[in-house]
Amino acid sequence: MKYGTRTGNAAKARTQCVIVGVYENGQLSPSARVLDKASKGYLRKILKRDDISGKTNQTLLLHDVPNVGATRVLLVGLGNEKSMDSAKYADIARTVIGKIKATSTRTNLCCLLEVDVPGRSIDWKTQKIVESFEAGLYSFTKMKGKPPVNTDSIESVDLLLDDRSELETVQSAIAVGSALTAGISSAKTLGNLPGNICTPTYLADQAKQLAKDYSSITTKVIEEKEIEKLGMGAFMSVTRGSVQPGKLIVITHKGGKAKEAPHVLVGKGITFDTGGISLKPGAAMHEMIWDMCGAASVFGTMVAIAEQGLAMNVVGVIAAAENMPSGDASRPGDIVKTMSGQTVEILNTDAEGRLVLCDALTYIDQFNPKTVIDVATLTGACVIALGSHASAMYANDDGVAADLTKAGEDSLDRVWRMPLWEDYQAQINSAFADMANIGGREAGSITAACFLARFTKKYRWAHLDVAGSAFKGSGPSKGSTGRPVSLLFEYLNNLAA
Ligand code: BES
Ligand code: MN
Ligand code: ZN
Repeated sequence: MKYGTRTGNAAKARTQCVIVGVYENGQLSPSARVLDKASKGYLRKILKRDDISGKTNQTLLLHDVPNVGATRVLLVGLGNEKSMDSAKYADIARTVIGKIKATSTRTNLCCLLEVDVPGRSIDWKTQKIVESFEAGLYSFTKMKGKPPVNTDSIESVDLLLDDRSELETVQSAIAVGSALTAGISSAKTLGNLPGNICTPTYLADQAKQLAKDYSSITTKVIEEKEIEKLGMGAFMSVTRGSVQPGKLIVITHKGGKAKEAPHVLVGKGITFDTGGISLKPGAAMHEMIWDMCGAASVFGTMVAIAEQGLAMNVVGVIAAAENMPSGDASRPGDIVKTMSGQTVEILNTDAEGRLVLCDALTYIDQFNPKTVIDVATLTGACVIALGSHASAMYANDDGVAADLTKAGEDSLDRVWRMPLWEDYQAQINSAFADMANIGGREAGSITAACFLARFTKKYRWAHLDVAGSAFKGSGPSKGSTGRPVSLLFEYLNNLAA
């Protein structure tokens, strides 16, 4: 969809729909006041009839309002002016796009930048509107037999500015929001594609395509033969049971100086997780098509920063494999040697994410990274602990933790810091090897992070367990959420600024 800007009198705009806010106490937003004045009190008259009280997310669509250039006026409730906050603002934007999507108005004028959100700049509001609108317009139809008829015919949304001095700021925020959105959409689609399509080879091909699409990107795909040679026994122990060859995919974005050390993102890319020989129960196994959402978010973030042209060097690494039971699959009790030299006793083949990640996390040491963030749908225990609202964050560095927390609050893609205390390490000690790949029922998300912590001592590192936040496994809004692309994009942008 096209986003533009407009200044001037909202009542004079010739558009199919003008979107204005009304507060709960009957107070009108500045543009609503303009429309009310032009229509000689029509809006206030409607509001008195109580069809809309101004509660957050209420809407009322009016047609042919007298002396208003737009064919329709969409009133949207902003709630109490004093309790407006970032989350409400994004929520209101989602409501608006839902409504204009249902109405199919081709051209729209959105007068929501004028709404005051404490602590938020006009760029933030612009970016949130673009992000929320595009999220509302996303649908996953790639796997339908016939491409569905495009029912939403929305062509453009113009954002109304108070005056021309805001023009540049808003236009560049639209560009940043669109770049982010491109990343989020690609992460969602990769996540939603089923395991028979989105294989490690598919992910590698998509990454190679990225290098063709963006001049800042180069892609290197490391094949199993090389992975084996590099000594990645843990990675190989996962991929060996599948006929789909595993891949270590390295996507480099050069936006900074040639010699500048990069920030590194590492994603768990298990394209389907059956559990392996420690087979998962059947009922919800199909949800494991999303076990590559960490990888998808790394991919999506690379798309977003390349699209934006972020002036920074970033390396995105995807550890892609399929976890299958087979005659050649790893057995519970197997002991393997990781690239780091440490050995692991595989007590449960379903704890495979940490096995592919630990070798990827050792591999990236050669980049001398400024910071490393890994993203993984790592544990069911994380979902039990935090549900879907926050991603679990673990960090060996307070600065990285603080930066991610702040980025989470600003992007509304939040994290919650969990303990990475030495005390938990004992749970993954092994009698036979240097460590076991599981730590018992207690604190399952923490012990998984403790496992990774044994491979990330050389750099500033954080781990995001996104098992609860990256996808919805069932229900009407089933699908990838695109998280934590917004978080990572915000994090990198803040570091670049
Ligand atoms: N991919 C799963 C974790 C998961 C579960 C993600 C539910 C999203 C939703 C992971 O590979 C796994 O199976 N973890 C095990 C670890 C256990 C064997 C220690 C788990 O959480 O049960
Ligand atoms: Mn598993
Ligand atoms: Zn898994």
